[in-house]
Amino acid sequence: MFTLYSFILLSLVYITHSENGFLPPYISPCELSTDKFVDCVKKQIVNSLPKFTKGVPEMGVPSIDPVHLDNIEIDGNGLKLSFSEAAMHGLSKCRLTDLKVDIGKSEETFSLAFKGNLSLVAKYVVDGRILILPIQGKGDALVDAQGVEVKIDSKLVHVKDTSGEHFKLATPKYKYTIEKTTFDLKNLFNGNKQLAETTLQFANENWQQLMDELAPPAIKQIVRTVVKAINKFFSKVPIKQIVIGYKESQ
Ligand SMILES: *[C@@H]1O[C@H](CO)[C@@H](O)[C@H](O)[C@H]1NC(C)=O
Repeated sequence: MFTLYSFILLSLVYITHSENGFLPPYISPCELSTDKFVDCVKKQIVNSLPKFTKGVPEMGVPSIDPVHLDNIEIDGNGLKLSFSEAAMHGLSKCRLTDLKVDIGKSEETFSLAFKGNLSLVAKYVVDGRILILPIQGKGDALVDAQGVEVKIDSKLVHVKDTSGEHFKLATPKYKYTIEKTTFDLKNLFNGNKQLAETTLQFANENWQQLMDELAPPAIKQIVRTVVKAINKFFSKVPIKQIVIGYKESQ
């Protein structure tokens, strides 16, 4: 008897989930017909950002804090620098700084900007020079980037499956600004403290030079990861479940 009940109960739960899709309790749908629509979407994002970035296992949305990055290698201007086993922390503490949603028209768009402090923990190998100063070493690296603002502009397209129509961010473009970066590279010059201190101080005074090389591949991966997480979410929720009053195309 018990197993039969469990079976029926499980089936019901399964059907409910597969027909309506699972929506985390911190996200409620927004009504398209009112002029408060964008404010409502904004509220959902602000509310869910700290939790969503930690992942939604029920929807297969992975945690993006930390973001595990592919190896970053820069080789130019006389400097070879690589980071491996890199993890970027801080997305869950970023705040939303801009949001534009344009839906219900023939071309739909979704833009958002977020800002916060991001820190990169990795293994580094460096050899060459920063401007005039030689730098060489390998070990643990901590890169603290403060006031990082990333703005993503994307088209919204629709994907259909058996549960209905879904949004998908397509051809996202992005730009970023960074206020300040601090590098802490352990074990520079094989642990020669005096050389290491001078060089690190110089690197930090000229952080912009280093970040001009370093930030593009890192930000590119961050944007890709964020877009992937959002699209995973969209793929699990039909549009009509998050946007009340949305007319699906036939
Ligand atoms: C970012 O870091 C700076 C310097 O450590 C700090 O003053 C600021 O409050 C931090 N911002 C956030 C959003 O945590």
